[in-house]
Amino acid sequence: MSAAGSIRQRGDRSSPVVVSGSSAFHRDLLAPTIREAVAGDGVYILDKNGKRYIDGSSGSGPSCLGHSNAAVRAAMHAQIDQIAYAHTAFFTSAPMEELADNLCAHAPDELSHVWFTNSGAEAADAAFKLTRQYFIDSGQPERHIVIGRHGGYVGSTLAGLAAGGSERRRGPFTPLLPTNTAHIGPAYAYRGMREGETSDDFALRTARELEAAIETVGPSRVSAFICETVVGSILGAVPAPEGYFREIRRICDRYGILLILDEVMCGMGRVGSKYAFAQEGICPDLVMIGKALAGGYAPLGAVLVSSTIHDAIRDKTGYFRHGHSFHGHALACAAALAVQREIEQRDLYSNIRKSGLLLDQLLRERFAEHPHVGDIRGRGLMQAIEIVADRSTKENFDPARQIDVRLTEHALDLGLICYALGSSSESGVGDHVMLMPPYIATPQHIEEIADKLGRALDRALVRDK
Ligand SMILES: Cc1ncc(COP(=O)(O)O)c(C=O)c1O
Repeated sequence: MSAAGSIRQRGDRSSPVVVSGSSAFHRDLLAPTIREAVAGDGVYILDKNGKRYIDGSSGSGPSCLGHSNAAVRAAMHAQIDQIAYAHTAFFTSAPMEELADNLCAHAPDELSHVWFTNSGAEAADAAFKLTRQYFIDSGQPERHIVIGRHGGYVGSTLAGLAAGGSERRRGPFTPLLPTNTAHIGPAYAYRGMREGETSDDFALRTARELEAAIETVGPSRVSAFICETVVGSILGAVPAPEGYFREIRRICDRYGILLILDEVMCGMGRVGSKYAFAQEGICPDLVMIGKALAGGYAPLGAVLVSSTIHDAIRDKTGYFRHGHSFHGHALACAAALAVQREIEQRDLYSNIRKSGLLLDQLLRERFAEHPHVGDIRGRGLMQAIEIVADRSTKENFDPARQIDVRLTEHALDLGLICYALGSSSESGVGDHVMLMPPYIATPQHIEEIADKLGRALDRALVRDK
């Protein structure tokens, strides 16, 4: 692989060694190499050449039990030997029913039903359609505007991109997006908190942007507010300040709009509890989950729905006008059920909290004085560092330097998978890297991740000659 400081950047056509011999449509069409994963070994992935990579970000978050969990594999084998799939228009299945029971049993009573999807983005679309049908069925058909947050991400479907707040990800697709959305700012303390403002004041000020947006749009037209409980990839592991969500809940209740929380990345244990909102003292009307739900062993997402929504639809239309061929896929549900049972039976929540503290400590030891690290933040095993050109002004690196791409490449060179992105300010530029180790990580694994990240960042910051 390339030496430090001379790594090829995304879109660099100077020496395009295009992935050859592949009929697959890859993400980066000019990538010089595509590593081929051939095996999993706990928190490690092995490539075709036998090189080991520690999965410091569980991919983009899913691989919470690592890559070779015996109980999940056994549950999947057992299910596939019985039946892998039967369409839910005709049949239910034990894994789907048991998984729904499990998810509801750990949620507040109000969240009484689970709608399954194949991904997090589909969970967003399902949540929007459930919201719409609920308002039609409860006699408020004028409600259709969804308010999201800048600097947020709720998936890459057209509806997800419209409600999410990343200009960068919308990019050329903007003309295709639904227009029933409005946005408020994020609760992003590092860049948003004003001089002299307390955390409480900041929480209230940012939450009350929702009230202002509702008044602007017209209270009777708004159906829902959607945001991530802990912001993931766009801003990089940003928890809300204490009190923010209580104020958001109050505003939603006051105006009769639904609160949709996106926990696709931060849910299912990632921040130390099955549902991240449990740490905020509130309950949403709908909550989207995915990623660590099935731990990467199968593609699966879901939306937990309140009994109020469920019952209104049941009592009026009696049918949710939505669905996918693989809705409630039995094999995927069996995998997810085994993943959730592993987390519970091994009490991995306490490991998440312990390892999260260690990761935070090591990141601070390594980066607190680093001239190009502006912020270290996160919750549980969802942590990030924000990389800046100048700590005192918080000025970002020129996006042309592609610090995120270089960091990813150098980390992979060193055998580390981490999740670096170049989108950490509301203007859509700025670099951060997220660390989301598997819940089974030991202290030695956490040390290996922090150490390799330090070396990769030093290399990524070296300018090309
Ligand atoms: C917060 C959040 N919501 C939704 C999604 C979309 O999930 P998926 O990639 O499974 O469609 C993601 C994916 O990164 C996410 O991080």
